[in-house]
Amino acid sequence: MPTVCVVGAQWGDEGKAGIVDALGAAADWVVRFQGGPNAGHTVVVGEDTFKLHLLPSGLVRERPRCLVAQGVVVDPEVFFRELDELERRGVDTKGRIFVADRAHLILPYHRLLDGLTETRASVPIGTTRKGIGPCYADKVSYRGIRIADLMDREWFETRLEGEVAARNELLRKVYGAEPLDPAEVRDVLLAYRERFAPLVVDGAEVLAEALDRGEEVLFEGAQGFLLDVDAGTYPFVTGSNASVLGLCAGAGIPPRRVDRVVGVAKAYCTRVGGGPFPTEDPGPDGEHLRSFGKEYGTTTGRPRRCGWFDAVALRYAASVSGFDELVITKLDILSGLPVIRVATAYEHRGRRITRFPAAVRVLSEAVPVYREFPGFEGDLGGVRSFEDLPPRAREYLAALEDLVEVPIRTVGVGPERDQLVRKE
Ligand code: GDP
Ligand code: IMO
Ligand code: MG
Repeated sequence: MPTVCVVGAQWGDEGKAGIVDALGAAADWVVRFQGGPNAGHTVVVGEDTFKLHLLPSGLVRERPRCLVAQGVVVDPEVFFRELDELERRGVDTKGRIFVADRAHLILPYHRLLDGLTETRASVPIGTTRKGIGPCYADKVSYRGIRIADLMDREWFETRLEGEVAARNELLRKVYGAEPLDPAEVRDVLLAYRERFAPLVVDGAEVLAEALDRGEEVLFEGAQGFLLDVDAGTYPFVTGSNASVLGLCAGAGIPPRRVDRVVGVAKAYCTRVGGGPFPTEDPGPDGEHLRSFGKEYGTTTGRPRRCGWFDAVALRYAASVSGFDELVITKLDILSGLPVIRVATAYEHRGRRITRFPAAVRVLSEAVPVYREFPGFEGDLGGVRSFEDLPPRAREYLAALEDLVEVPIRTVGVGPERDQLVRKE
């Protein structure tokens, strides 16, 4: 497996980090290629739980070197806080973490503006308020500041001065907010500059060389397909191409170097933040999923909205992403439900829809057409072979495979490292 890309197939929090952790044991590199500290990636190692927001989950393993690639938006404060925390907890990160010089920086005004626009918006998105949208907006409107710019002190100071002045005007005149102190912003960033210096690389070059040497590279997606800025439920999305569509630009690799795409989906569905969610179940079954599945945001602590597996959305994600394989996580959480539902189509104003629609209104009004499956009982946490899963759980997985038309090779039955069942 020279290159494998692990991406979310729903609205994020599918359990991507656990899969990256499992595959990462043998990888030479683990690479984050999009998103920023909006991500919350959980790796459970025995008694220890690591929650990573910006750094690749591969750091928790000993072997891989890790790259924060050019498509990631980097908040220096989060970057070093997370690195220090890992070191404090005994993870040796020295010589194993690199950051691409072309990655854009999340600056204090990005965080402020994210919060202010959310608070004032007539239709809030429910962002994580980490400055993601404003930072990506600056990147595509040529106002961003990259790590490479920070490394060139004179150029950096000129650029920053202009940007802070422009944002202060916006903060004051439009939002009536306190302006930032330009000298303070500059000094804080210049202090990070020293720490970044030994970690900065030309990310695309590093990856090209690694791939030429035949090293195994694992790409760790953040967020999920339905949050992708182009493919997702716009405007209720994130600022990046949070699907495999973002891989080439975000990592700086050509398409022919992507060998395998692994889509990760929960056995049910969750969404945190606003936006349409056709299979959301606000009733007791949704509450079962939230409480047993511990469905509370890793980054913001918000309760996640819960509902049923949506095969319409998954088929769309699979066809656009070309999943070679689907991982189904959290199968154990369905245990105890009398009936399990899967949306196979939607009804909208008397019309049957089988292709995931773009229009927010259609998605919001769509009524799922459910296929019902009898539930299963018992604790699946100790199951390690596919044959030992309850027959009804296997039937459920077989139906998902048929509906999405992608093979399911791995199933999650608990949060621990070894709680994965492989279907050979
Ligand atoms: P990510 O953002 O896709 O990496 O996922 P998160 O870390 O935000 O959320 C997934 C949560 O589910 C984490 O707390 C994981 O430890 C947990 N988890 C992952 N796979 C399983 C599983 O198969 N069963 C159970 N019960 N928990 C899981
Ligand atoms: P991981 O990698 C779930 C959601 C936010 C909001 C929208 C835009 O852990 O799966 P943003 O702050 O990105 O501008 O918010 O995207 N969102 C996520 N939801 N998992 C994530 O990451 C998310 N990252 C962002 O809740 O709806
Ligand atoms: Mg998460």
